[in-house]
Amino acid sequence: MISISKIMVNYQEEPVGIEKVEQIGWVINGNENERNMIQATYQIQVAKDSAFGQIIYDSGEITSSSSSHISLPNLTVASKTKYYLRVKIGTNVGASDWQSTSFVTALLNNEFTAEFISIETAKDKDDARGSYIRKEIQIEKQIESAYAFTTALGLYHFYVNGDKVSEDEFAPGWTSYHHHHLYQIYDLKDYLKQGGNALGAVLGAGWYKGTMGFKRRKNIYGERTAFLCQIEILYTDGTREQILTDATWQGQWGPIDFSEIYDGETYDARKEITNWCQTSCDYQEWQPVSIVAADKSVLCAVSGAKVKPITKLPAAEIIKTPKGETVIDFRQNLTGWIQFRVCAKPGDIVELKCFEVLDADGNAYYDNLRSAKATIKYICRGTQEELYHPYFSFQGFRYATVVSYPGEITLEKFTAYAVHSEMKELGHFECSNADINQLHHNIKWGMKGNFLDVPTDCPQRDERLGWTGDAQIFCRTAGYLMDTYTFYRKWLRDVALDSSAEGAVPHVVPDILTGHVEGDWLLEQGTYGATAWADAITVMPWTLYLTYGDKIILAERYDNMKNWIDFMSNHAVDCIWNYQLQFGDWVALDAEEGSYFGATPNDLTCTAYYAYSTQLFVKSAQALGRNEDADKYQKLYQEIVTAYQEKFFDQSGHMNVQTQTAQILSLYFGLVKEEHCQNVVADLLKLLEQENGHLVTGFVGTPYFCHALSQNGCTKEAYKLLLKDDFPSWLYQVKQGATTIWEHWDGLKPDGTMWSPDMNSFNHYAYGAVGEWLYRVAAGIEIDEAQPGYKNIIIAPHIGGDLDYVKASYESIYGTIVTGWNKNENQVELSVCIPANTTAAIKLIDGIHIIDSDGISFTKDQDGFLGNVGSGTYVITYQIQQ
Ligand code: BGC
Repeated sequence: MISISKIMVNYQEEPVGIEKVEQIGWVINGNENERNMIQATYQIQVAKDSAFGQIIYDSGEITSSSSSHISLPNLTVASKTKYYLRVKIGTNVGASDWQSTSFVTALLNNEFTAEFISIETAKDKDDARGSYIRKEIQIEKQIESAYAFTTALGLYHFYVNGDKVSEDEFAPGWTSYHHHHLYQIYDLKDYLKQGGNALGAVLGAGWYKGTMGFKRRKNIYGERTAFLCQIEILYTDGTREQILTDATWQGQWGPIDFSEIYDGETYDARKEITNWCQTSCDYQEWQPVSIVAADKSVLCAVSGAKVKPITKLPAAEIIKTPKGETVIDFRQNLTGWIQFRVCAKPGDIVELKCFEVLDADGNAYYDNLRSAKATIKYICRGTQEELYHPYFSFQGFRYATVVSYPGEITLEKFTAYAVHSEMKELGHFECSNADINQLHHNIKWGMKGNFLDVPTDCPQRDERLGWTGDAQIFCRTAGYLMDTYTFYRKWLRDVALDSSAEGAVPHVVPDILTGHVEGDWLLEQGTYGATAWADAITVMPWTLYLTYGDKIILAERYDNMKNWIDFMSNHAVDCIWNYQLQFGDWVALDAEEGSYFGATPNDLTCTAYYAYSTQLFVKSAQALGRNEDADKYQKLYQEIVTAYQEKFFDQSGHMNVQTQTAQILSLYFGLVKEEHCQNVVADLLKLLEQENGHLVTGFVGTPYFCHALSQNGCTKEAYKLLLKDDFPSWLYQVKQGATTIWEHWDGLKPDGTMWSPDMNSFNHYAYGAVGEWLYRVAAGIEIDEAQPGYKNIIIAPHIGGDLDYVKASYESIYGTIVTGWNKNENQVELSVCIPANTTAAIKLIDGIHIIDSDGISFTKDQDGFLGNVGSGTYVITYQIQQ
């Protein structure tokens, strides 16, 4: 029986608050044993009611195999309305029934009549107190539907009748607020009741007005926190009512005495106002609010990936350190907060200070937090048991020192929550090497730790910024692990908005540095236009296009991509480009002692990326059918490659820069003349050998190291590098007990000392970029650029590394792709599952003989064997060259 298992509207299931129906897609469920299933027709209907009595759109039966990226060109939807959408399909093996979903539209024309309101005044500008905002309302009639459109200057929690509406945290999220400010949409039907209702919000400073950046700037976006709420009610009698924040609301300071992103929170529970958001509240001292002027034209509906507490971790151990500190160990470095219980007298204090690692003596190590206090102070109410976690602050930690706690400290009183943007987990990877499995775990937790609304560098110190380089380097890996589409698309909008007029992308987005780096020895040299950082604007839309087959993101960022290429061209001399501050091969180990800058010269890294980005832009232009641009920039690309080869290669066809990263970039970016490839590969192997098989690469070279080897006939060497476990290597960290990825190879050195505390994060995802190699190469789930989004899948596992087995899966937009191989001597059993309505090219790399082809007709080619298949499950047995 054919069925549709899920329908996605703009890549979301049952989205609430969309500004436009951009595209529909669905996953087809068939019998796994049914091979070659292809969709033949589809029909989509949209209605105002769940019974589909009032149909407003009917595509009719369309003959098409497309089950994703389907636009509904003539569909017109009204603002703040729920719609129902259903799909049925016909396939070569039968037809499905209707499958339906729903979506709710946002305030489509930004019809915001509500005001931002606050109890803060100009004198509160340096304050990081939290405040309550509230109003009671009467509802006389029966509600058909009720939606709240809410946001804040600062951070907020929204309450109705004492209940927090949704699990959302850190709303409205961090964006380039003055250009792009998100609002949330909540279905209030189950929260509101006939009669009296209380509405409320708790507000905090957050990214908007709290201190941010190493310079500790306050009030970056504004001086007063404020809440905005517009509730749109439709009654069953057809009448409508709006409830709006305005000067009739009231507020008061609450129990949050202090709350900031870096420093933590101080919460005095004695200041709580009992039942503050209930109609039963008898507190009399509410203050009037005032209206805060803010530009409402920049408000945009949030499109998913909302921040929530996602994973709960119990406290694992209570440690007494040699210094006598009482420390809770959660055995996982994470980003979020600690929730605790306490029974105490009024005024008793719980104080926790969060941190990531113990020092060589086993004491709490705070130095790498720099100025971030990461401290939670809770002053007890002193009634029954109290339960608390911070409202508007998050910490990056594995441990917490219990500075004070009234009563016995026991494990069950403390629970950690990993808080991050909600993204479906898509990838699973496992192999016979436990250290690699731990590395995969660490990569995933590095992602969980740095996807709190913006892609950050680290979650613990006084930084936590959207470094564009880190995001770019990691994005392909992230795409295998989780559904990143809405998360990245939102952030890329800020990348575009914060770019310079000339098209240069800032080092951090949202850009809080440009214009504010006076006295900073490094950033005074420039705050935008750094190679591999700014290239986020080309690499990331392209990567999303590959992963999802989505042309909307390419079209949306097309001009920004182009502007960035033009910026480089405008500042290049004879196609060799370099500009102001460059981070180069950041924190590579071939740097001079104590320096951050790797040995590969900037001219080289810059020009290599100039070529790479131009090439991605050409491919993007081709994908969008913008042929004139494609031709023009293809010419430019050739010129850059020629200039690169002339400048960085000698007569004998070897590079005149002998660093690992120089060889890696040249190979992976395709910048080597074919006849010189073997030279560069040999030089790379030699450079590896000189380091006893260790990498000494930084941010720029590391992500592509294994690819540069495995794409050039050196799979064995790629595995060897991956499996190295002494210093420096990926697995060295694992052997040291890492549970996330470190910023530095030598964050914690073999002698127990550490890299300087001025920049030593233990939760930095950049080096986790090797994760994509595990999926693409070890497991062999690869994208076909000609049919992206896994419409045609390349299955090409590279057997090696003395692994007995690898198994992986990836939930693509068409369904779950599974690969798994077992190796015994030189015999391999490969199991593959290809989703309905897709095809795959199965490559038996290094295959020399097929024992059981499971009905696939394979042909021999230079890599081994190639067979093309349709959907279904296959088990192939073959022999490989050892
Ligand atoms: C960040 C990095 C970032 C770098 C650029 C650091 O402080 O943590 O990850 O990319 O600066 O210089």
